[in-house]
Amino acid sequence: MLEITVTLDSHLEEPLYLQLYSFLKKEMVEGRLTPDTKLPSKRKLSTHLGISQTTVETAYQQLIAEGYVKSEPRKGLFVNKLEMDIFPIKKEHVAARDNFQQSPLPNSIIVDFGHGNIALNEFPFSIWRKLTIQSLYEEESHLLLSGHRQGDLPLRVEIAKYLYQSRGVRCEPDQIIIGAGTQYMVTFLTMLLGRERVYAMENPGFHRSREAFRDQGVKLLGISLDQDGIKMEDLRESEATVAYVTPSHQFPLGMVMPISRRMELLKWANETDSFIIEDDYDGEFRYTGRPIPSLQGLDHQGRVIYLGTFSKSLIPSLRISFMVLPPPLLSRYQNRFSIYKQTVSRLHQQTLYLFMNEGHWSRHLQKMRTTYRRKQSTLLTLITEKFGNQVTVIGVDSGLHILLEVHNSMTESELINHAEKVGVKVYPTSVYYDVNTYSLNPMVLIGYGGVTESEIHNGITLLQKAWELF
Ligand SMILES: Cc1ncc(COP(=O)(O)O)c(C=O)c1O
Repeated sequence: MLEITVTLDSHLEEPLYLQLYSFLKKEMVEGRLTPDTKLPSKRKLSTHLGISQTTVETAYQQLIAEGYVKSEPRKGLFVNKLEMDIFPIKKEHVAARDNFQQSPLPNSIIVDFGHGNIALNEFPFSIWRKLTIQSLYEEESHLLLSGHRQGDLPLRVEIAKYLYQSRGVRCEPDQIIIGAGTQYMVTFLTMLLGRERVYAMENPGFHRSREAFRDQGVKLLGISLDQDGIKMEDLRESEATVAYVTPSHQFPLGMVMPISRRMELLKWANETDSFIIEDDYDGEFRYTGRPIPSLQGLDHQGRVIYLGTFSKSLIPSLRISFMVLPPPLLSRYQNRFSIYKQTVSRLHQQTLYLFMNEGHWSRHLQKMRTTYRRKQSTLLTLITEKFGNQVTVIGVDSGLHILLEVHNSMTESELINHAEKVGVKVYPTSVYYDVNTYSLNPMVLIGYGGVTESEIHNGITLLQKAWELF
């Protein structure tokens, strides 16, 4: 039986499970743990290393989720065969679709400023585990059968309450449709709204939705932005009758759409018989000023389709997102699309329902707001301290990422490659632009949700060196 010996240090800020996970991943990538090797059981490894079984379990789960390890029923966990060619290949043209794939990070990366990451060490593992088990009691055996196509009602009731209180969305649970991710929602909406319509999106905008629209074969126009968000004159001049926007925190530039632009957008939709898809992906995290309620809350004519997700505020792997349909679209959905079954597991729905209903959700959100605010403030302080006026920071009002325009005459790919050489992963912004429309000064995207404060410190110090900013 394989023994694994690793020095884990509980004094480090990095949690033990991450230390164990990184160690095992390194051993696999570097070939010391070979494919098909059986890993020790949770119990054995936890006794051997003097750590809890939960720590081992969490590290193992992460390795399984990332494909490093496979679980074989009744046999145990085995090292997977790694395709070495999935490790990042450097390419000049970052806007290629291939670059949207999330490759495992090279082993040399010390700090990953990925914008899709969240603070894993703050996830309430024990509560979630307890509620997951509770959802599996025999009295709940009905959950093993198919549920309501829109998602289970108790969860929709909780979501409606939360949306009203936290985001100013006015809706009945009947208007909510739960589904596995924003891209699924976008795909579904093109069917519901019709593929003959012309769609518009912010340019730059959320690349995953853009590709989902394109793959549906609809005509999609990129509309440029000014400091308040989507440019109304360009939208008005276009033939679009559906506009996809991120008003609470423009993705990726980060501006918050002011009320005047929101009213203009609603006016456009009313006058042109159009719809607005409001993607409110991280609207819970706002750091300056008062919370700005959703666009949906201002809409009295049934023009706004609200999209929400638990990916940023809870965990991305849950794959629970939802849309709120305005009444005219709801009847079309019920008449024409009721054949489509729900895509999210009822067990996860029930766990999330219990989590919300018992008050854990609002506590978690409160906690995460404080955590992310603190991380952002550490990041901004360090950027000012180390980079001074050699950079411009963009989009600090909300969310889990900022953009950094670096004035050192490096191109976007040079900034990324130089950072990677010192072990720091920062991300391109050009991928969010329509082809050939990226003409700005080089900018990189820095997510801070998934990094610890000491990693932020380390990362910014290394970037100062990599980008020669002294
Ligand atoms: C702009 C935007 N919308 C939506 C999402 C969430 O997508 P999903 O619900 O598929 O996880 C993200 C996550 O990164 C995002 O950046």
